[in-house]
Amino acid sequence: MDAIVLNDFDSISEAFKKDEFLGRPKSVAFNVLMELKGFGTLSGNEWKEQKRFTLYQLRNLGFGKISMEKHINDEMIDLCQRIYQLNGKPVKIRTLLASSTSSNISALVFGKRFAYTDPNRAILDECIERAIRKLGQTGFITFFPSFAKFCANLGLFGLNEVKKDFMIVNNYIRKQINEHKQTLDDNYIRDYIDAFLVKMKNENMTKTSFTLDMLAGNVQGFFAAGTETVKTSIEWALLIIADHQHIQREVQTEIDNICGRQVFPSWSQRNAMPLTQAVINEIFRWKTISPLNLLRITTNDTSVDNYTIKKDTVVIANLWAVHNDPLYWVSPHQFNPYRFLSDDRKQMLKYDNLIPFSIGKRSCPGESLAQTEIFVCFTALLQKFNISPINEVSYEEDMGLILRPKHAVTLRFEPRL
Ligand code: HEM
Repeated sequence: MDAIVLNDFDSISEAFKKDEFLGRPKSVAFNVLMELKGFGTLSGNEWKEQKRFTLYQLRNLGFGKISMEKHINDEMIDLCQRIYQLNGKPVKIRTLLASSTSSNISALVFGKRFAYTDPNRAILDECIERAIRKLGQTGFITFFPSFAKFCANLGLFGLNEVKKDFMIVNNYIRKQINEHKQTLDDNYIRDYIDAFLVKMKNENMTKTSFTLDMLAGNVQGFFAAGTETVKTSIEWALLIIADHQHIQREVQTEIDNICGRQVFPSWSQRNAMPLTQAVINEIFRWKTISPLNLLRITTNDTSVDNYTIKKDTVVIANLWAVHNDPLYWVSPHQFNPYRFLSDDRKQMLKYDNLIPFSIGKRSCPGESLAQTEIFVCFTALLQKFNISPINEVSYEEDMGLILRPKHAVTLRFEPRL
């Protein structure tokens, strides 16, 4: 299997404008170890059809709207209460955040949030976290799918455990789908599963891509793509802000001035908060959590930068290289949020080449949800707490399917007086 790596903004933006670059190669987890569906793994017309339906339904259900933010706020109330109860005792941030990010997805697809103590929530979170850690996507098995099956059968590279974890998640989702079927009311759509089940009723089942397998795969894709990514971004953000106390004080002053101390900051206030936005953008740049994008595959012969690229070539877009290119960024290896501010520090500067969610027609469909969750969580925690590290901060990285802190981030939260 041939592969190309696109290492700068110009080549990625040229390629991702072309339909031939919209394909997705077979995924080890979804298509090789198991036969799962899901629009994140599809190519061609099936992908278009599923993506169009999914975006439309998620928008109807409040995705990226005020109703979704209300839900994120409820999660924050719960999270802050749990932190107050710690009385300044250091805590592993990952454990704390787990229920919030999965509850936000759960509200959209299952129509209900998970309680922090819900054992199903803990099992789903653990399975997804473990599977994503093990699935380093550029590992050589991605390029040798039949070898992956062979390795899985022999129990090599932890593939058996990945399969087991993904099956646990898939079975739980199918159970939820069955429960939805029993209580489905065509005139009252509670969530994404209801919307999909109603659509299925109106389809010709011999021709359609709207099947139960597709529904389970789409839901599994949301959990896989939408929980670890957001949790990890917030984990990096809190680690970095704990390590940069003077920037933390400046962000807190901005939050106090614009939002006060009582009501949580809201997404709609972001434009009045240039420094906060600059800090979040610099975190997205400095710790690019999806450094090599998700793999694409060409669906026809095509070209980029005058090079001919054959059909079925795997395409790796190196987002990390774009975010660390000295042509665009001064001293890219330094964490410096002020690069995103005008000279008088009153305006946030937008850069086209900040692309943590990728670009073009197949960029991340969860971007608006992720941006809102990260902004609200980061600002709400800084509004209520001073955050500090307990030992010397380590920025060591662990590269699985996403780039995470190598060591569990443990921080101290002290209520602000
Ligand atoms: C900080 C958080 C996130 C980051 C950095 C991120 C980044 C990405 C990237 C780089 C891609 C690959 C796009 C491409 O192929 O060019 C992607 C795809 C995807 N993301 Fe996200 N994502 C985040 C959060 C979310 C959330 C919250 C959801 C769900 C609700 C989500 C759902 C998806 C799905 C379903 C795909 C596959 C789309 C397709 O194949 O058409 N992501 N994401």
